[in-house]
Parts: sequence; structure tokens; C-alpha cells
Amino acid sequence: MNNAKDYNKFLNYKNGKLFFEDTPLDKLANKYKTPSYCYSVSEIESNYKLLKNSFKKIRPLICYAMKANFNSEIIKILSKLGSGIDVVSFGELEKSIANGVNPNKIVFSGVGKTSYEIELAIKKKIKQINVESVEELDEIDYICKKRKQKIKICLRVNPDINAKTHEKISTGRSEDKFGIPDDQILEVFKKYKDNKYINLIGLSVHIGSQIESLTPFKRAFKKIRNQIKFLIKSGFKISLADLGGGAGIRYNEKNRLIDLNEYSRLIEGLFSDLGIDIIIEPGRSLVGSSGIILSRVIRVKRGKKKNFLIIDAGMNNLIRPALYGAFHNILPVNLTDNNTYKYYDIVGPICETGDIFGKNIRTQQFKKDDLIVICSTGAYSSCMASEYNLRGKVNELFIKKQKIKVSNK
Ligand code: LLP
Repeated sequence: MNNAKDYNKFLNYKNGKLFFEDTPLDKLANKYKTPSYCYSVSEIESNYKLLKNSFKKIRPLICYAMKANFNSEIIKILSKLGSGIDVVSFGELEKSIANGVNPNKIVFSGVGKTSYEIELAIKKKIKQINVESVEELDEIDYICKKRKQKIKICLRVNPDINAKTHEKISTGRSEDKFGIPDDQILEVFKKYKDNKYINLIGLSVHIGSQIESLTPFKRAFKKIRNQIKFLIKSGFKISLADLGGGAGIRYNEKNRLIDLNEYSRLIEGLFSDLGIDIIIEPGRSLVGSSGIILSRVIRVKRGKKKNFLIIDAGMNNLIRPALYGAFHNILPVNLTDNNTYKYYDIVGPICETGDIFGKNIRTQQFKKDDLIVICSTGAYSSCMASEYNLRGKVNELFIKKQKIKVSNK
């Protein structure tokens, strides 16, 4: 359980104390309130560089899916490294521009863009809109005509592929609300062939999230390749494929990770001969491993059947266990010398039975005020937080070596 480095390259024990970058977490907890979201800046930078450098033949534009974590600091760290941004709302669009992202590196995805959002995207001259229905495209056309402005469009294909991930984060099956059925794509291209304002440049696909095998990617990407070749043969000019995000990360010892190099080889193998630009939209795999929640034990409660470790982080800080049954690895900040192990249900303080981070977890013995860390909370954690039970917002701390920056924006 205490293999911290498997979860974050900059999380490790020194003499029984857990350090994040070069910062001892017990000191951090004394200075800032718990719970708090802590991020390793070096881990984010390293994840981005590893992904970028895994490509040898092509240079895809990496557009970070900021829905995974919309903290300004993360946008700044990644855009400084050259990343573009994948946005899904006017809020994300405005925030990325406010943080210095070049609109020419912004892709707008999402199944329910409002006319306000479409107009804003056009006005800001973003790189492209990924369109999810012909009805949406008709609306974009109407707005473009009104504004006398052009826009580049990718059609998001629904390839009817099961990503074999959690039911609630699967997006590429025909019954899912996302994308345009693959047998309707040609029709849309025909309809918009000579349109003055709509420039259909390619296809996009995103089949789901926390995907742990290359097989569904292979199936989806092959479909996209074939479709692009078919469109080219039918006389359409295709200059771009956006292959979405979806690679999984380690939450616990059961997760399998996709080999980054195999992922990149797959993309290069299928697309480099087409001479088109490639975009990828990773969210979780760039930032997920960078974050931890630092939390304090409120008390240990002895129940009839169980021992409850009640901690000060709750499902309002991390909803993934309650929503998807996810288990995020949990680590003690200070290792105890004795070899006494206990079984705990690790729970939050919220008035919901589902406010549980782990059941029957075998770990060292804990007492009131001990510190623990919940791993892999860099993605879909702070951004999905709520103030349920009116618990208020908590700090987000960005750590690089011994430097700590509080950034709650
Ligand atoms: N592109 C599109 C169009 C997406 O819908 C998503 C995620 C991504 C990219 C980024 O996917 P990633 O690389 O992060 O897997 N709240 C859920 C995850 C929802 C994902 C939504 N779409 C969770 O906590 O697991």
C-alpha cells in the first residue's frame, strides 16, 4: 500500500515521512488547513514532456482537456510548455484566454454548446469547433452567416465502440449521447461542401475515459483512418484528425496502464502516411497523478462490526468513489515503526452513507490528528467539488521542490 512512487514520481518516503517534491507533508499540513488539494508541478511538467516526446514521426498538438482540472495554475503550467486547450463551456473558453492561451490553440468540444457559446468561440477566432450533431452545425452556420465569419470544424464521430471502461465515462457507443453516427458523416460533408463559412477540415473521436487497454483505441482510430481515406477518395479535403483523450492512470494496484510509447506508435502507424495534422486531448493522464488530497484523521470510531477512520476530506472534495465506485490509494504521512495493522473503513464526515473512500482497508494503526494522503486526485477532483454540507472550499497548493503557491482560482 505504501508504494508512493507508483502514484506520483515526486511522492516518496524519507525516513518514514512522506515528502511531496522536497516538501514534508506534515509541515505543509501544519501551515495550511486540511483537507487541501496539493499538486506536484514537476509531475505535471514531466507527464506533458513524456507524452510529447513519445512521438517520433509526427508532432501532434496536445490540447489539454481542462475539464479534468481548470485551476489557472495548471492552464499556465501546460500552456507554457506549448499545450493547447480543449474546452467545453464558455467558462473554460474565457478562462483559458484570460490565462494567456492563444485562441489558435483552443478546441471547443461538447455535446450541448449553446448559441452564446458558439458565438463566443467564433468571435474569439479559436482553432476549431468539434461538432456533435448536424443540428449543431446548422446553428453554427447560421451564426457564422450573421457575423460574416468563417470557422474550422471537425465532426465528432460516434464510432460505436465500447471503451471497456466504467459505464458512466464511456462515450463512444451508439447509445451514448456523443458524436455523429459514422454512417451519417459523408452526408454532412456533402451538405457543407461549398459552404462559404463552414470549413470542414476533419474528424474527431473520443470514446471514453480511464481506458486501460490499447485495443479500443486501436479499433476507434482504425475506423477514423478508414473514414478519412474514404472522405478523401470522395473528393473532400481532410487536413486534421482529433483523437481525443482517455488514457487511464493508476488509482490503485488493480489499474493497468497503457504504455505511452505503444499509444504513440499506434497513432503514428495509422496516421503519419495521411499527411494530416493530429490533435490529442488528454486530461486525466496529464494531471491526474500530480494531485493528492492531504487530510487529517478527525477520530477513529469503533463500530460494532468495523473500525471507522473518519477523515476531514469528504465526498464534496472527491466525489469519484461515491459516483463511480473508484478507489484512490491512501497513504499515511508518517509511517509507524510497529507492525500493528488494522482494518478500517476510511470515511468522510458527510451525512451520506456513500461518503466512503475505502472499505476494509488494511493499514497501519491510526489515531486522532494523524495525517493521510489520498492519491491520484489531480484530475476530476477539485473541479467536481461542491460545498455540500456547507463545508466551504479548500486550498489548492502547487508545490515545486520547496516552493508552495496557493492558487484557488
Ligand atoms: N475530450 C473529450 C471530448 C472529453 O469528453 C474528455 C473527457 C476528454 C477529452 C479528456 O478525457 P481524459 O483524457 O481525461 O480521460 N469525471 C470522470 C471523467 C469524465 C471525462 C469526460 N470527458 C471521472 O472522474 O472519471
